[in-house]
Amino acid sequence: MHGNAFLTSSIIINMSKSITFYVQPGGKLQGEARVPGDKSMSHRSIMLGSLATGVTHVKGFLEAEDALATLQAFRDMGVEIEGPVNGELTIHGVGKHGLKAPKNDLYLGNSGTSMRLLSGLLAGQAFNSVLTGDKSLSGRPMKRVTDPLAMMGADIKTTEKGTAPLHITGKAGQLTAIDYAMPIASAQVKSCLLLAGMYAQGVTTVTEPAPTRDHTERMLTGFSYPVKQEGSIAKDGVYAAGLPGAGAAKVSISAEGSLTATDIDVPSDISSAAFFLVGASIAPGSDLLLKHVGVNPTRTGIIDILRLMGANIEVLNERTVGGEPVADLHVVYSPLKGIDIPEHLVPLAIDEFPVLFVAAACAEGQTRLTGAEELRVKESDRIQVMADGLQILGVDAQSTEDGMIIQGGAIGGGEVISHGDHRIAMSFSIAGLRATAPITIHDCENVNTSFPEFRDLAKRLGLDLVCRED
Ligand code: S3P
Repeated sequence: MHGNAFLTSSIIINMSKSITFYVQPGGKLQGEARVPGDKSMSHRSIMLGSLATGVTHVKGFLEAEDALATLQAFRDMGVEIEGPVNGELTIHGVGKHGLKAPKNDLYLGNSGTSMRLLSGLLAGQAFNSVLTGDKSLSGRPMKRVTDPLAMMGADIKTTEKGTAPLHITGKAGQLTAIDYAMPIASAQVKSCLLLAGMYAQGVTTVTEPAPTRDHTERMLTGFSYPVKQEGSIAKDGVYAAGLPGAGAAKVSISAEGSLTATDIDVPSDISSAAFFLVGASIAPGSDLLLKHVGVNPTRTGIIDILRLMGANIEVLNERTVGGEPVADLHVVYSPLKGIDIPEHLVPLAIDEFPVLFVAAACAEGQTRLTGAEELRVKESDRIQVMADGLQILGVDAQSTEDGMIIQGGAIGGGEVISHGDHRIAMSFSIAGLRATAPITIHDCENVNTSFPEFRDLAKRLGLDLVCRED
């Protein structure tokens, strides 16, 4: 039923077209831009706004397929949501126990965040549900959430391989809290368990092996729901993410609490800004200002890594908006050098490695990434797909089990495949800025999952990109 398109009340998302990007070599990035809203925060604004009592207004919402899949899922569970219009939404919260049984399966497209967070939230509801996704999402590991949820008493059936569809039998009033040490640093697993913990008897505690994005915790606090954070919170209450030896963070939650509606201002997504941070860093003559970017310290690994490589990035006008740090980022071209990427920065830049590999290809010397096996289970196997594509472009890129070794040098032209992965498609587009011949990128339709404006914005800022739809 979902082969070609799925419908939100105002938007038809067409998944059948094949989109190819053609990038001419050279150019530089110049000017000012505000990239679209943060994807992680957009998902969470719908989830928590729906569970709140009262009306939540959201500004800066990301109108892209992933966040719209979450929005549609909550409409399917009886939540009235107006918009989005120019990134603005009005959510008429139904309260913590107000969701209704969906009439059909909840189709979540390409969105791992929707599926993993919803599995935790739906485990403790008074109704059953089925979560489905596209081909990529249906191949991604779900045991990382269903195993700890089972320890809480949840009943979720996966395929034999531990993948979606997820058949959830709601266990309202029957979940019990766990104290869980996550084997992997995953904000999705942490957030899933915190959402389940809101419906469990006792105090659910999640310990992370390394700090991961903390938007769920911050937004819960914004909705007046009690969450306790310990461990990595250092110096003046500032989350010490990324500090070597900061120690594991513990987050605790219980069913004692309710959410009160609030207004949310979603900043620009640093993961979308990342393409232009790298683009301007590698293209001589570039000078770019990216405005109102979320700079939560659990997300700024991209800035730290690029600076270690010699990038010229200034963080200006830092302020706090709705409990999240926001700043303008000024980036000017600067020759990069290869580095060994510190492992403690990996979870803090987890979505930015495809484009960081492009930066490494343009750097002088060798760049080595280790400790990043998680990249193999993202929207694609980002280690293999990037190594294959870079090799086609003549770059010496060797994949390893948990990372990549890249010798900087010239980037040539050629035809690469994004494997339906939005961040791969955008990363190879950015490579065009330093390529010596045109680059063709196939299979780019999923850029719409996170950054539908990418091609227009990239063109406006100076990338010579043409797009063909078949
Ligand atoms: C996300 C967490 C990350 C990230 C994903 C969004 C989130 O995944 O890769 O794009 O919103 O919580 P993991 O937590 O699995 O690393």
